[in-house]
Parts: sequence; C-alpha cells; structure tokens
Amino acid sequence: MLVHAIPTNAGYEFAAEVRAGLTRAGQKELPSKYLYDDVGSALFEVISHLPEYGLTRADERLLRRYSDDIADRVAGPVAIAELGSGSGRKTRWLLEAFCRRQRTSYYPVEISHSALVMCERELSDIDAISIVGFEREYLDGLLEVAAYRKSGQRLLVLFLGSTIGNFDRPAGVKFLSDVRCILQPGDSLLLGTDIEKSSIELLRAYDDQLGVTAAFNLNLLARVNRELGADFDLSQFAHLARINEEVRSVEMHLESRRHQAVSISAAEVVVEFQEGETIWTESSHKYALGEIYEMARAAGFRCEVQWVDQQWPFAENLLIAE
Ligand code: TRP
Repeated sequence: MLVHAIPTNAGYEFAAEVRAGLTRAGQKELPSKYLYDDVGSALFEVISHLPEYGLTRADERLLRRYSDDIADRVAGPVAIAELGSGSGRKTRWLLEAFCRRQRTSYYPVEISHSALVMCERELSDIDAISIVGFEREYLDGLLEVAAYRKSGQRLLVLFLGSTIGNFDRPAGVKFLSDVRCILQPGDSLLLGTDIEKSSIELLRAYDDQLGVTAAFNLNLLARVNRELGADFDLSQFAHLARINEEVRSVEMHLESRRHQAVSISAAEVVVEFQEGETIWTESSHKYALGEIYEMARAAGFRCEVQWVDQQWPFAENLLIAE
C-alpha cells in the first residue's frame, strides 16, 4: 500500500492545543482526537467488545447484513474514501460487495499511521481492490482523494461509527457541508449515527463496570505525561460521564479529585485545578431518525435510505449529494 504521509510538527501542535485547552477561561478541555494514540486505540478496541457498548457491533452488523443493498444503490465505477478507517475491519463486507462487481479503489484517510498500516494488512487480500492510504485529517485527505478521481468515477465517502456525533449539532452540519463541497452531484456519503436511547443505557455504555472507558479517557492525561513531560497524577483524576439533556449528548470529562497544580513542561505551563473541576474531553450526540433527513438536507444532501439495527438503535444513512 502506498501511504501519503505529511511531515508535520505534530509534537508542537499537540503542546499548543493542550496549552490552549487547559488555560482557556471557563470549561477546560482537551481535543478528543488525542485519545487515539496506540494505547488509546487498543483500549477503544476493547470498549467495542464490552456488553454495555453496543455501538460498534451494531455498526458492523448493519454493514455486514446490508453491504449488497448498499452497493446496489451506488451505481457505476466507484472510488471509496473512508474518513477515519481505523483497522478497517468493519469495512471489509462493503468493500467485498463492491469488488465482486468491479475493480474498486479504496482510500482510507486516517491520522493514525499504525491504524493505516493495520487497515492495509486487514483488507489487502480482497480480490480486485487497490488501496492507497492518506495519513491526513479528514477534509485534507478527502480533497486529495477527490483529485485522484478518474472521469466517470463516482465517489462514495464512508463516515462510520458515529464520529459525526462527536461534533455538536451545528458543527456536524457544517462538517457535512464541507464534505458536500468536495463532492459532485450524485456522489454519496454513508453516514453512521447513534440513535437516542435511555440515560441509563447511555451512562452504562460510557462508564462501564470494568473501567475500560475510564482507562481510555485517563490515557489522555497519561499521554500528555509521556509526550509533553507533564506530571498529571492519574489517581487524582476520575472519569466522569454525564447526560446533557439540552443538546442530547453524553459528555465525557476528567474530574479533579482535589485542588492541585500540574506542570506540562513542553507546553511551558502550570495548570491549577479546583476540587471537582473538570476537563471536557468529548461529547457523543445522539439523534432521532427523522433528524438525519433534516441534517442531510441542510448540508446539500438527500437522505435516500436508512438501515437501522434493532438490537442497538443505530442507523447507516445513505446520503446523495444534490
Ligand atoms: N466516539 C466514540 C463515541 O462517541 C468514542 C467513545 C466511546 C469515547 N467511549 C468514550 C470517547 C469515552 C471518550 C470517552 O461513542
């Protein structure tokens, strides 16, 4: 597999974003994309097997069960771009369905180099596939994929696993509009969305009994220690999941158990935490089925089909660019 990597000043950027997030007035925050280093990605893989967290399995079930239907609805020669491919495991069914029909190009776009390498290892045995990975942020990668498009080829963008839910609602629509701008009319976007469920179920899913989700969230502080020379004492922070009824999301925080100061050497800053003060790390918004039609329309798409899992309410939505 060809991997297009870009030279970045990744360490510097990480330090700058940590500094900005922890010194801002009001709610402290850390960007959720930093949850997924090698340790974080491995912990998330474990989360996806937990009985309490049915989201990933619902996504996989739908892709497995409906891959032929999905392929049937996207006609002609297609190039498939996946935003945040991860290991690529759940994409296999879909790629096989397309490759049975004709030779298909698959362009995973991923910020994690090791995920891209795994993705290639996982999928390169599929007949009639060609894989070119892009180690890029979503929209930068998609722009490059679009530049690779051959004439007459349709583009199908995969945005699975409910990552859209990690944007707040207005930012989610803005992101879909940005994707739409890179596409041509008739291109498609397969969008995964987690559907609303009870607060009890959601809190269980985002604060499991084994403490894997807590470890996943706390690993963000451990990563800041490892990579930026900080001295976070992990035993003095607790994982916290709470429901935000107003915006219909689950919020993940790291709560300081006492008044303390933490020094982050590479960010040249000392941060003070009050007892009970939190760092917001991620929100996961949940959707009503009908709402996805409106979001699609607002972003210049038409939602053509929804496939919904009955065991764990989750939808794959096929959006067509208008
Ligand atoms: N983006 C996933 C989701 O919204 C990831 C996730 C699961 C997550 N559990 C978490 C992110 C806990 C932060 C903390 O479902």
